[in-house]
Amino acid sequence: MRVGILTGGGDCPGLNAVLRGFVLRHVVERGGEVVGFERGWKGMLEDKARPLGAADVADQWNTGGTILGTSRTNPLGGPDGLERIRATWQARGLDALVAVGGDDTLGVATRLSLAGLAVVGVPKTIDNDLSGTDYTFGFDTAINICAEALDRLHTTARSHGRVLVCEVMGRQAGWIGAYAGLAGGAHVTLVPEFPIDLDQVCATVRRRRESGPGYTIIVVSEGASLPDVPGEVTVSEAKDAFGHARLGGIGERLAARIESREQVEVRSVVLGHLQRGGPPSAYDRVLATRFGVRAADLVDQREFGVMVALSGTSLVSVPLAEATGKLKQVPASFYDMIQGVSG
Ligand code: F6P
Repeated sequence: MRVGILTGGGDCPGLNAVLRGFVLRHVVERGGEVVGFERGWKGMLEDKARPLGAADVADQWNTGGTILGTSRTNPLGGPDGLERIRATWQARGLDALVAVGGDDTLGVATRLSLAGLAVVGVPKTIDNDLSGTDYTFGFDTAINICAEALDRLHTTARSHGRVLVCEVMGRQAGWIGAYAGLAGGAHVTLVPEFPIDLDQVCATVRRRRESGPGYTIIVVSEGASLPDVPGEVTVSEAKDAFGHARLGGIGERLAARIESREQVEVRSVVLGHLQRGGPPSAYDRVLATRFGVRAADLVDQREFGVMVALSGTSLVSVPLAEATGKLKQVPASFYDMIQGVSG
C-alpha cells in the first residue's frame, strides 16, 4: 500500500518518533510505501511531498520538531480545497492518508473521511485537549519543561520575597497549567475553564506575605480570562486559518493588577514556545512511537475514519468524529483538588 502522511498545526515533541514508528512498521516490516507531505495540509494542496524510507527516520526517536515541517493551513478554507486534495491523492496514487495533528488538523481529517477518503488520525498536541484519548504525546514533555522552570522560579521568588507569575500555553483547556501547577508547587493555578477571581488571588498573596514564606508562585494559562477584560488576552487581532487569535499577555496583565492592589513586587515570565521545542521526554518518545506503529496497523487492517488513542495503558481506535469538535477540558473536581493542595 502507498500511504501519505503529514504533520499539521503547532509542532510538538514526538512528531518524528511517530513518523519513525509508522515508517519502520509500514515500509520496513510490511514492504509498503510512504509519501511524506511537507508542511501539513499545505503540502497536500500544493502536492509537495517526498518518499519516506528507513534512512529518513532511523535516527528520529529523540528529535524535536518535525522533519516534514508543519503549518496551520486549512485546506478546506477555500472553495476548491477538497478537489485539490483529491487531485494530489490521485496523482500520488495513495491508498490511504495518516494525519498527525490536533483538533484543527484532525477536524479536516474527519471531513475528508466523511467525503469518502481513507484517513487515519494520530492525536498530537502539547495541550492534551483532544477528546477520545487519555493523553496526547508532547504534553508530558511540555509539563516537564514547565515544572523545571517553576522549580527555578521558586528559588528566585523566595530570595526576593516576590510574586512570580508564570504564563503557560493552553488556549481553551488548562491541562498544561493544571499539571504544571501541581508538579511545580504553584501557590495559585489559573486555567481557562474557570474565570480568575482577583480577590482570591490577592488574598493568597497577602496571606503568604504576612504569615507565610513571603513569596507566591502563580501559574496562569494563556487562555485564562480576567473579569474586567472581555474574552481572551491576545497579542493582535489577526486570526489564523482556523479562526484562532494569537494569545499572550495574560501574565503581564495579572502581574500589573496584583502589584497595584497589593503593593508588592511582581514579575512575570512567559514560557511560550520553550514548551514545544527540543527533544521529547522518554514518555513521549514511547507514546509517539506506539501511536505511529498502531497507525500503520490500522492502515494495514483498512480501519479508516478513526484516530489512534490511549485508553489507560492500552492503544485503541476511536471514530475521528468523536475525537474532534469537542475539546477535553479540566473538570471542576480536578481543579478543586488543585486548590486543596495549593496556597
Ligand atoms: O498547538 C497549540 C498551541 O501550543 C497553543 O497552546 C498555543 O496557543 C498555540 O499553539 C501557539 O501557536 P503558534 O505557535 O502558532 O503561535
